[in-house]
Amino acid sequence: MATRVEEDPPAVEEPRSSHAPDARQPQPNPLREGLRLERMAEPCTMVICGATGDLTERKLAPALYNALLGGFLPPEFTVVGFARRELDDDAFRDHLLAGINRFSRNKPAKPAIWESFARGIEYHQGDFDDPDAYVELAKHLDRIDRDRGTSGNRLFYLAVPPSLYPEIVNQLDRAGLASHGDRRRSGSRRGWTRVIVEKPFGSDLESARTLNRELAEVFDETQVYRIDHYLGKETVQNLAVFRFGNGLFEPIWNRRYIDSVQITVAETVGVEGRGEFYDATGALRDIVQGHALQLMAMFAMDPPVEFHAEDLRDEKMKVLRGVKPMSAADVATNTVRGQYVSGWVEGEKVVSYRDDEKVAPDSETETFAALKLGIDSWRWAGVPFYLRTGKALPSRVTEIAVQFKQAPLALFARAGVPQIEANVLAIRVQPDEGILLRFGAKVPGQGLQIRTVNMDFRYGLSFAVDSPDAYETLLLDAMIGDPSLFTRDDEVERAWEILDPILDAWHAGNGGPLHFYGAGSWGPPAADELLERDGRAWRRP
Ligand code: BG6
Repeated sequence: MATRVEEDPPAVEEPRSSHAPDARQPQPNPLREGLRLERMAEPCTMVICGATGDLTERKLAPALYNALLGGFLPPEFTVVGFARRELDDDAFRDHLLAGINRFSRNKPAKPAIWESFARGIEYHQGDFDDPDAYVELAKHLDRIDRDRGTSGNRLFYLAVPPSLYPEIVNQLDRAGLASHGDRRRSGSRRGWTRVIVEKPFGSDLESARTLNRELAEVFDETQVYRIDHYLGKETVQNLAVFRFGNGLFEPIWNRRYIDSVQITVAETVGVEGRGEFYDATGALRDIVQGHALQLMAMFAMDPPVEFHAEDLRDEKMKVLRGVKPMSAADVATNTVRGQYVSGWVEGEKVVSYRDDEKVAPDSETETFAALKLGIDSWRWAGVPFYLRTGKALPSRVTEIAVQFKQAPLALFARAGVPQIEANVLAIRVQPDEGILLRFGAKVPGQGLQIRTVNMDFRYGLSFAVDSPDAYETLLLDAMIGDPSLFTRDDEVERAWEILDPILDAWHAGNGGPLHFYGAGSWGPPAADELLERDGRAWRRP
């Protein structure tokens, strides 16, 4: 995000991320007059470890196809699928094509574009614990560098369960595939190496630290891209533009004018087919740890000194540091966990979570979580941040709703007009991306009546272009070397520091009971009570 301006194409020997003053700090190259090379990835090979899985088909293949369609991938770009399954290149290409034809925002694939994409798709069969598979992979990649001109630039995407990360990164290292390719590791080959790791990043603070340590033994932090696809969503990136690109909002973005903030990540889907993963994970780890806390950090951060990755991540980190971990007593008061039972969502019958075939029949895993958090900072002291997320809710919506304080004087009350609703600014992340402002207006006529009306900006109406998919944006960022929209090691660890006490109290049984809610409802009544106690109510998006 930071470097989305005109840039020089970096020289192969000089990775963009190695630039002083801070080795951790990737910086944009100087502007190059007259040339807009902003989103063109460099020639590189992307190796997808675990390429035969769901993620490749659903997200990665469509994202790459659309990036190519948009002209953002160079002709040299090559994908290598690395997985255990016996496949040949053609079968792997078919797997990607099927994904594009099913899940791409532009579908079906255009034959000419697909043919050019397919020429750069290869498969490498091997077991992740077999050193020979990596030795062969290294040869395979060298051959691609020679044949396709990918300049030794490599992006490894770990589309595998996190338990396999240590094995894979160590094997990559042993096969000489992990080196940075810059002068700091003299004697290494040319070109850059980066690794993208998927969420969940650990399951608690300790496991996240271990994972960070294991990655750090092999890679520099500048090489590690921890993906949180919410940061790639267009509306989330727009948060920074909305706040810092306009003079209007930033002066009121604080405790003096804002009463409270609600962050909702609501899904209509249950756990369909993902019961095994989900039952070991739960809503707090699945959504709050990454997506919801990242939304909160982007919403609440101070303006960065510059729009560079490290400045941005420093500011987000300050927000997370301001969120104080709860005591067990706070957990019981300030959190609600729920699990859905059978009901109806969008006209479809949904079975109880515990009746899912991959879920334990006595599972205590939460499919809904609501939290009241605070940020101890000059800007936000005393402003509650209410977060909620759930599966099997009545509508799919992600939004940040800001409730402003009431006008200081109820002037119109003297004329018998009832108290007007407080102003609300709702930033809709998805679907119907846009920003809505609710304020009071005089109803036309001779008397004085006030009604709340909407001022409504919608992406779909204001812009004629489709928003790129989050993965499209993030893959390009990783190829370009811009980590702004990826989470840093300290951010993930801090998120776990915030959530660990909640998980511990819930599991110890002293963090409040597990509440049940009917599929198709907005969660358990206890979630409403969490706000009612404070004289507030959840917005019904
Ligand atoms: C993923 C979670 O990270 O995000 C899923 O693991 C969830 O459980 C998904 O459904 C939601 O993503 P989106 O982009 O559809 O809102």
